[in-house]
Amino acid sequence: MIKKLNRIANDTNFFLKKFIKKQKKSALIVPMKYGLFSKGKKIRSKILIDIGSLFKINYKSLIIIGSAVECIHAYSLIHDDLPCMDNDSIRRGKPATHIKFGESTAVLAGNSLLTMAFEILSHNDLNIPEKIKIALINKISESSGHLGIAGGQYLDLNYEKKKISQRKIIEMEIKKTGKLFSFCCVAPLILKRKGKNEINKFEKIGADIGLLFQVADDLIDHKGSLNTAGKKTGKDKKRGKATLISLLGYKNTIKYANKLILKINNKIEKYGSSSKNISETLKYILDRKK
Ligand code: IPE
Ligand code: IPE
Ligand code: MG
Ligand code: MG
Ligand code: MG
Repeated sequence: MIKKLNRIANDTNFFLKKFIKKQKKSALIVPMKYGLFSKGKKIRSKILIDIGSLFKINYKSLIIIGSAVECIHAYSLIHDDLPCMDNDSIRRGKPATHIKFGESTAVLAGNSLLTMAFEILSHNDLNIPEKIKIALINKISESSGHLGIAGGQYLDLNYEKKKISQRKIIEMEIKKTGKLFSFCCVAPLILKRKGKNEINKFEKIGADIGLLFQVADDLIDHKGSLNTAGKKTGKDKKRGKATLISLLGYKNTIKYANKLILKINNKIEKYGSSSKNISETLKYILDRKK
């Protein structure tokens, strides 16, 4: 699993470096690269490739689409750490982007990474029909805006220090984290021109994988340490974040996560032996320490 993740990370970083090198220089490139190339796990790209393997999609295209996803993910982390959001100073074992370069630069580098995702998906490097590119851009935009990451982040901050129902916590976690995973699960079907029904099914599978990922992240915050997680832990409780742990307790949240894994595995098993790629990723998502 780690070997596969490393290969995906290397291929993604290689593409992104080449892509950035082809562009004209600017002062924001250094903070953008700092946020982008600081050893993220590239788990979203792994899911994209796992689902791509069910539909026999070309690896190179998936790496390019995953590169766009990783730009959006890196942007979301830079903004998530800002003082007006989670106010965190360490990310991936290093000073957060705004600590290193200042707040305004971090905001702008984040914005530029978000728009770079759309540059990548619309670029000639991605050799697929334009209609499909537009469908991908449409979907990734929806995953990032008020119905996705931004909307979920709004709820996450708005729910601090309040008693929030399980349904609302899940809705918030699916928006802030799940929607980008939904994009990764749906993109291979868009490439294969699948119909609405099947796309909806994979949209839901993606939301559950993203929810699982965020629940596991919340568990790491609860039990993990700065050294292994690469970010300060114990912060969700301090800030009064509404999480399943705050509502159900630690043990019940682990049970909830295991049930989610069963549910997702049940849905993907019928797609044949390649579905074991996804199963291994799900197990990693819950067992990981960072
Ligand atoms: C952290 O994401 C933020 C969440 C959405 C929970 P990752 O754990 O994927 O971050 P990196 O890219 O591996 O650092
Ligand atoms: C972040 O969730 C979700 C995003 C969309 C960025 P967290 O705030 O829990 O992520 P960490 O724990 O800071 O990485
Ligand atoms: Mg946050
Ligand atoms: Mg945070
Ligand atoms: Mg967290």
